[in-house]
Amino acid sequence: MDKLVIKGGKPLRGEIAISGAKNAALPIIVASLLTSDWNTYYNVPKLRDIFTIKRLLENLGVEFEEGDGLRVNASRLKGYMAPYDLVRTMRASILVLGPLIARLGRAKVSLPGGCAIGARPIDLHLKGLAQMGAKISLDQGYIEARANCLKGADIYLDIPTVTGTENLMMAATLAKGITVIKNAAREPEVEALANMLNRCGAKIEGAGTDTIFIEGKNGLSGTEFRIIPDRIEAGTYMIAAGITGGEVIIKDCCLNHMQAIVDKLRDAGLIIEERGRKVFVKATSIHSTDVTTLPYPGFPTDMQAQFMALMCLGDGVSVITERIFENRFMHVLELKRMGADIKIDGSSAVVRGVSCLKGAPVMASDLRASASLVLAGLAARGVTEVYRVYHLDRGYEKIEVKLRALGAEIERVPA
Ligand code: EPZ
Repeated sequence: MDKLVIKGGKPLRGEIAISGAKNAALPIIVASLLTSDWNTYYNVPKLRDIFTIKRLLENLGVEFEEGDGLRVNASRLKGYMAPYDLVRTMRASILVLGPLIARLGRAKVSLPGGCAIGARPIDLHLKGLAQMGAKISLDQGYIEARANCLKGADIYLDIPTVTGTENLMMAATLAKGITVIKNAAREPEVEALANMLNRCGAKIEGAGTDTIFIEGKNGLSGTEFRIIPDRIEAGTYMIAAGITGGEVIIKDCCLNHMQAIVDKLRDAGLIIEERGRKVFVKATSIHSTDVTTLPYPGFPTDMQAQFMALMCLGDGVSVITERIFENRFMHVLELKRMGADIKIDGSSAVVRGVSCLKGAPVMASDLRASASLVLAGLAARGVTEVYRVYHLDRGYEKIEVKLRALGAEIERVPA
């Protein structure tokens, strides 16, 4: 296992490019299961989670070819099972459930189990698939699902679940009739998946809104598709500029997907200006700002830990409220070890800004908490060692390379 060693206190300066979005690439690669044609995807990020989903799909008989883009073909599926040892490493594996039932009429997928940030049930995925006619049973930790032919259904989601919306939308593309998903997730990654499926011949309307209409087809063809930029990676690097007192130019990000993030970062004192195809980010003094995480287009939960790191150096008190997951404050204790003044009060964290953070050895616990600790280390006086960086590698492509290009003193060493 590696660790990142960061010598903090240097303002970041320079230009970096944002990679393709992990949470768009994962469902889009899985959607290849819905056709026997070749699909080609561009701007796929080189991440641990992408490697994991490829292994899972290869286990089902899907073929991959690496080249200019990532080519994927599911014409020779040899199974319908997603085993525990793969699913437990990445919850997004549950995304194969809907496409397998739609394409093969059968699926056996390990229940994902909980994870560091919460129980993360999938009851809404299962309820929607059952409404579409799937017979679902749970046995020895596995979901067994069968359906001779899925049929269109009128589905209301109690919670706008992102992967739940994606699972049901993919299943509905090959169902008989019309499916309506109400209270659907509105994330840009959901819309990107719908755009890719429509290029494959699906008929999906309303993606990106809270009501999505899918007219089922007898089959889908292949397509080429470019993965959208990662709005969470972009937001993370904006905070890297803000927390170190630097100025950074960010290429290949899409501000339209980041309105809540940019709004809050501007409230927190960052200057963020779009200049053609680039975004200029400059720090000023850090202003303590309250934030509550909400489904898109609200402030994303995946930016909560990173924003908290910034607020640790704010000029007053910031109340950060987590409304999406029940245990997404794992970074708090580690930030406090670096001198942060944070008190947890139920689903809120009260962050009182301090004049400086001090480097320390800290432990990553989940993907975004790890990013928060790296950001704090970049600003802290002294050396910070972030252990268990495999969490980071799930969602940040070459983070130490990109940060070094901005002048950070950071290196990856065996722990
Ligand atoms: C997606 O997870 C993202 N992952 C997460 O990103 C992100 O944090 C999350 O959406 C929220 O935006 C991918 O897209 C691969 P949810 P997902 O279903 O779909 C409850 C990262 O860091 N719920 O929208 O699993 C659930 O417990 C990851 O990149 C049910 O109760 O999240 C949670 O409280 C972390 N029943 C809330 O809904 C269900 O059937 C939102 O979860 C489904 C969800």
